[in-house]
Formats: sequence, C-alpha cells, structure tokens
Amino acid sequence: MLSGLPFYYKPLATDENEGPPSPCKLRIIAIKKLLFQLLTIVAIGYASYLGTSAFLNSGFMGHVHRPGCPHRNFTALPNNYSLPSGDKIPSVALGVWQAGKGEVGAAVTTALKAGYRHIDGAWIYRNEEEVGQALKASGVPRDQLWLTSKLWNTFHAPEDIEPALDDTLAKLNTEYLDLYLIHWPVAFKKDSDNVLDEELTANPYQTWKKLEEMVDKGKVRNIGISNFNIARVKNLTANPLKYKPAINQVELNFWNPQPELLQWAKENDLLLESYSPLGSNKQVSESLAVPEVKKISRMLGLTPAQVILSWHVQRGTVVLPKSVTPSRIVENFKLVGLPQPLFDMLEKAATSHPPKRVVNPSEYWKLGFDVFDEEWPF
Ligand SMILES: NC(=O)c1ccc[n+]([C@@H]2O[C@H](COP(=O)([O-])OP(=O)(O)OC[C@H]3O[C@@H](n4cnc5c(N)ncnc54)[C@H](OP(=O)(O)O)[C@@H]3O)[C@@H](O)[C@H]2O)c1
Ligand SMILES: *[C@@H]1O[C@H](CO)[C@@H](O)[C@H](O)[C@H]1NC(C)=O
Ligand SMILES: *[C@@H]1O[C@H](CO)[C@@H](O)[C@H](O)[C@H]1NC(C)=O
Ligand SMILES: *[C@@H]1O[C@H](CO)[C@@H](O)[C@H](O)[C@H]1NC(C)=O
Repeated sequence: MLSGLPFYYKPLATDENEGPPSPCKLRIIAIKKLLFQLLTIVAIGYASYLGTSAFLNSGFMGHVHRPGCPHRNFTALPNNYSLPSGDKIPSVALGVWQAGKGEVGAAVTTALKAGYRHIDGAWIYRNEEEVGQALKASGVPRDQLWLTSKLWNTFHAPEDIEPALDDTLAKLNTEYLDLYLIHWPVAFKKDSDNVLDEELTANPYQTWKKLEEMVDKGKVRNIGISNFNIARVKNLTANPLKYKPAINQVELNFWNPQPELLQWAKENDLLLESYSPLGSNKQVSESLAVPEVKKISRMLGLTPAQVILSWHVQRGTVVLPKSVTPSRIVENFKLVGLPQPLFDMLEKAATSHPPKRVVNPSEYWKLGFDVFDEEWPF
C-alpha cells in the first residue's frame, strides 16, 4: 500500500480553525479573487472573456452549497498508473538531480513524511548513497517504495550493465529497483570522457537484452528508457523484445510540452514521465510567471507550481518535481484535477508557442548530431 495522504484536496467540513488555511478558506479566498479576476478579464478583452465563460459554463461554480463550506468539485487525479508488469507506479515522485550532498537525504526524509513513496534518481546524480541512507532511516518498508535509477551512458555494453546496476543497488541499500531506465540513447566507451560508442548508440537492442536479463534475475521489476524520441522508440521496439519499455522519461514542461510525443505514447501504451516539469532550475521562475498559470492559481487557490504539476498528471504522465526546500516538497505533492476548461486553457497556452527544450547535452557531449533529431538514424 502506498501513502495514506491524498494527492488531491478532499472537501473539508471540520477543523476550520486548526492549522494552515483549510481548503474551505482557500476556496473562499479563491472565489473572492475570482470575482476580482472576472472584472479584470472583462476589461482585458474578448478572448479572455470567452475562456472565462467556457469556464463558468462548465458548472465549476455550480457545486457551491450552503451552509458551511462550499464544496469545490475538483476531479481526483490518478495516484498511480499500471505498468505492463502489473506494478502500479505512483504518479508523483521526488526528483533528486542536482540535490547535493548534505541536502538530498533531508529532502528524501521530508518527502517521505509528506507522503511521497517514489524517488527518481540515477547513478550519475552521484547521491544514491545518501538517498539510500535516508530511505533506510525512514523505516518505510521497501515494498511501499518505488525506486527508479538509470543506467549511465558509459555502461551500455552488455558486460558493464550488471556491475553498474549492482553498484546502484549497493548504494541505495536495496535488493532490487522498481524501475531501471536507459538514461540516454547515447553510449559512451567505458571509462571514456564522453567518447561515443557508435555501434551501441545506433542500436540499443544489445543493451536492452541485458536489461531484460536483469528483470529475470529479479534485480529490477520494470525496465524503460529515457530521452528516446519516437524514431528511437520505434527502432528499439521493432526488435523481438521479451519486455517492452514500461516507461519513457522525457522532458515535458510548459516550454516543451511535446504534444505529438504524448499522443503517440498514449496510442502505443507507453507511459511518459515528465522530467524538468517546472522547466528545471533554469526556467522555473518563468514557468511560475506564465499568465495562464497565475490566473488558474488565483482562481483555484493553488500555488503556480501546483497548477503546473497537476496539469502534468492530468495529461496522463508521471511527474518528477525536484526540490530540496521542505515547504516546496510538501507543496508539490498536493495536486488536484483542474476543471476541464482551465486544463484546456493551460494546454493551449503550452502548445501555442514554439517549443523550447531546457535539457539537451548534444553539443556539450560533442555528439555531432542532435540526440532529439527525429531524422535519426543519422
Ligand atoms: N532523464 C533525464 O535525463 C532527466 C533530466 C532532467 C531531470 N530529470 C529528473 O527530473 C527531475 C526534475 O527535473 P529538474 O530538476 O530538472 O527540474 P524541475 O523539477 O522542473 O525544477 C527544479 C527547480 O525548481 C525549483 N522548485 C521546485 N519546486 C518548486 C516550487 N514549488 N516553487 C518554486 N520553485 C520550485 C527547485 O528549487 P529548490 O530545489 O531549490 O527548491 C529547482 O530549482 C530531476 O530531479 C530528475 O529526477 C531527468
Ligand atoms: C463532480 O463532477 C462530476 C463530473 O462532472 C460529477 O459526476 C459529480 O457528481 C460531481 N460531484 C458533485 C459533488 O457535484
Ligand atoms: C492506485 O490508484 C487507484 C485509484 O486510482 C487506487 O484505488 C489504488 O488503491 C491505488 N493503488 C496503490 C497501490 O496506490
Ligand atoms: C535500429 O537502427 C539501427 C541503426 O540504423 C539499425 O542497424 C537496426 O537494424 C535498427 N533496428 C531495427 C530492429 O530496425
């Protein structure tokens, strides 16, 4: 069993005077703000007005009852997704890239207390030992945790995979991973400083076959990929796979929402995980300042980060926000289904500007090609 804490706000009828502002108070504040918002919107123009009437016509405000607390009709978000193995993956994880030594352990501890049961890590983040120590100290039983790690680029050769996995397992202090991903569709020669192994890069099937063996050995429960575009997924899955990729972990955020990839993944029953969901540290402040995000945040009494992270899960992806700040870790776990017109408004805003990727190491690695080029094979 996973966390007892809800991923969404439940209508709250009691304890109005205890603790932080209750959902009820937040709703009242939100409604006041909504009225102000309406006046502003009418003044701003017809386009905004259309969006707002669609929102009002949706019945969003139709569920207010008295006396007591007006019950906002949020739709619940899925708190997990089923994978081909039958395992259920929690829909929100704590990401730990760039969570430094001396801070990542505390972040994991805070997250587990807040109800997270899913940690998204990687061998290359170089913090697996501290993550493992925090997991152990938490006392949360292993079977209630979802641990993801990733095979680094220098370990794609079949003979290097099991030792790399064993190193991760030892550091995390666990017998198995719930999910192991090929971190990038890029293989480097072992121990090299980013020297491309062209053969292993061009055809990841050998790497995949070894990962399938790791499943059969019980060292990992699910295997998947990361940073694979459609062409690369098709190339891998054209092989006679014993286990198809359970997950593709990719960059998804307001700036790079990848609607085609999302649509294709849904049609092909491949679950996506949204990395850098807030735009990563480079663009998080721009993400939180997006007018539509701010508008929805005011209307619903959510923080801008909660609006964006909720949108990701509502799109049908697993979301992996990273934070080492306790209040943000707690905040990022409280997600709600957005009323459909507001979801649509954000989806439209995200998909109506030219896409801009935050994470692309192709040049840094001097690959000589763009790892996200759909024209691959190069
Ligand atoms: N597979 C891959 O190649 C790959 C690549 C990138 C990322 N990832 C995964 O995805 C995870 C998340 O991606 P990311 O770290 O790039 O970016 P992100 O989660 O989009 O953004 C992290 C940044 O947002 C800040 N932040 C978090 N919550 C916030 C909130 N509620 N309000 C304001 N600021 C907030 C964090 O600050 P503080 O920490 O200071 O609070 C940090 O600077 C990674 O940790 C990793 O697990 C995977
Ligand atoms: C909330 O909305 C859903 C879907 O529109 C509807 O089925 C449900 O009855 C509503 N709940 C309340 C309390 O109005
Ligand atoms: C998965 O989610 C469903 C509803 O979405 C819930 O009934 C079930 O208890 C969840 N399972 C786990 C293991 O969290
Ligand atoms: C995947 O692409 C590589 C490189 O072009 C090619 O050698 C291989 O045969 C392809 N795999 C399949 C199954 O099509």
